[in-house]
Amino acid sequence: MTKITFINDTGTTKTVEATNGLTVMECAIQNNISGIDADCGGSMACATCHVYVEEKWLDKILKAEDAEIDMIDMAYEPKKNSRLSCQITVSDELDGLTVTTPKKQS
Ligand code: FES
Repeated sequence: MTKITFINDTGTTKTVEATNGLTVMECAIQNNISGIDADCGGSMACATCHVYVEEKWLDKILKAEDAEIDMIDMAYEPKKNSRLSCQITVSDELDGLTVTTPKKQS
């Protein structure tokens, strides 16, 4: 199992065990993480799964496709470490991944 830590905008932290092969968004939904609604179910059409990825993990995650970058541009307060959690697949290499949810999603 891979551990993923979610932090909301107030600093509340929750670490969960994620199943490899699922997305970080699916892991969040399974564990009732507030701030990740995933309204479109993972089809890159809503940005309600937007997270800020802790910088040290950015190189371990596949680069965002153009469609993801376009959707992030429409998200609340995008930053250079913004990603859509529905586009991050859980794997052993991401054990310890930490993501923060934007203020408006909490
Ligand atoms: Fe809608 Fe990720 S769940 S863009």
